[in-house]
Amino acid sequence: MMKASCASALLVLTLAAPLMAQKFEGLAATPPMGWNSWNTFQGNVSERLIEEMADAMVASGMLKAGYRYIVVDDGWEAPERDAQGNLVPDPARFPHGMKAIGDYLHARGFLFGIHNCAGTKTCAGLPGGRGHEFQDARAYAAWGVDYLKYDWCNHGTANSEETYKTMRDALRAAGRPIVFSLCEWGDTKPWTWAKDVGHLWRTTGDIMDCYDCQGAYSLGWKYILDLQAGLEQYAGPGHWNDPDMLEVGNPGLSAAESRAHFSLWAMLAAPLMAGNDVRRMPDEARGVLTNAEVIALDQDALGKQGFRFMKHPGKQIWAKELSGGEWAVCFFNDSDETVQLRIDWSNLSFLSGAYRVRDLWQKKDLGRTEGEFRAPLPSHDVEVLRLTPAR
Ligand code: GLA
Repeated sequence: MMKASCASALLVLTLAAPLMAQKFEGLAATPPMGWNSWNTFQGNVSERLIEEMADAMVASGMLKAGYRYIVVDDGWEAPERDAQGNLVPDPARFPHGMKAIGDYLHARGFLFGIHNCAGTKTCAGLPGGRGHEFQDARAYAAWGVDYLKYDWCNHGTANSEETYKTMRDALRAAGRPIVFSLCEWGDTKPWTWAKDVGHLWRTTGDIMDCYDCQGAYSLGWKYILDLQAGLEQYAGPGHWNDPDMLEVGNPGLSAAESRAHFSLWAMLAAPLMAGNDVRRMPDEARGVLTNAEVIALDQDALGKQGFRFMKHPGKQIWAKELSGGEWAVCFFNDSDETVQLRIDWSNLSFLSGAYRVRDLWQKKDLGRTEGEFRAPLPSHDVEVLRLTPAR
C-alpha cells in the first residue's frame, strides 16, 4: 500500500515537473497595452497617483482604446523586507497596501501590473527578488497582480536565462496567470532564449523623451527603432520584442515625432505602454494614442512584427503583414527636411496584386496601388497606409 502511494506520488511529480517549467500561455496573444508610471513619474508613485491615472484612463477613452494594464514601476516598496522576508509596500505612498490597488483597478476594468527586479535590489535601491522568487510570486498572486515587469539591476554574476526561468517557475507555482515582462535591456539577446520564459522582453536600454538624443544607458526612439530591424523573426503571439514604453504626450517630442514613434511601434507589434500623464493629456497626444486604426495594426491577430524593407536617407519603408492578406506600410522620413515620396508600387516586392489604400492618419481612402504613390513627407513624420486586397 505504502509502495503504491509512493509510486503514484512519483508519477504525479514526474507529470507535474514539465508542466511547472512553463510560462502561462495565452496571456499575450496580441502585444500588451497599458500605462506605466516610469517615463513620467520615475520613483514618485503612490496609491493616489495610480488611482487618479486609472480614472483619467477611463475618462479619456484610453481604457476603451485597449490600454488595460496599469503598471506601477519602481518606487512602490518600503526600503526593507519584513522579518519574514516579505515585500512591504511603502506605508506612506501605499497606505492601503497593494491588494487595494489591484481591487481598485479590477473594479474599473483594468489589469494590475507591478515592477520588481531579478537582482538583489531594484534600480532605485529597493528590495529585489533574488532568492525570494517563490515567496514574492505568492505575494503578487495574493495582491491580484496580472503583470510583472522584472528588471535587471544589481544582478551581479547571475545568468539571465536561469534567473528569469526561476521567476517564471515561481509565477507558475503561485497559480495566478501573470504576464511576465522581462526587462533585461537586450543585454544577453533575450529574443534568442526567452520565448518560453516570458511574454515580452526588452530589446534595448531605456527610451528617452526625445527623437535622437543619447544617454549612458538610454536612447531616443530613432536609435531604438534602428536596433529593432532584424528582430522580427523572434516575435509572435505570446512572445514579443519590447522596444520600451511610449513617450507620446511627453514634452520632448514634436507632433510629427509622436505620431511617427507611435506608428512605428505599432508596425513593430510592440507592447503599447503609454508613459505620459494621462490626467493632463493634450488633445493631440490623445488623438495619437487612441487612433484605433493604428492600434489595429499593432493588435492584428496574425501577430507578425513588421520589418524594415528599405532604408535610404530620408526614406525608410517598414512593412507589416496583417491577417486576411492585408498589409501595413509605413514611410518614415528620418531626415531633417521634407522629402517628396515617389514610390512605384511595383517596387514593393512583398505585395502581390492590387490593393485598396487607406491613409491611417488622414483617415481617408486614397484609391488603389496603381502606378506611383506621391506625397510630401515632413521631417521625422510618417505616412501610414493600410492595404486591402482589391477583389
Ligand atoms: C530600469 C528599467 C526602466 C525602469 C527603471 C526603474 O532602468 O529599464 O524601464 O523600470 O529601471 O528603476
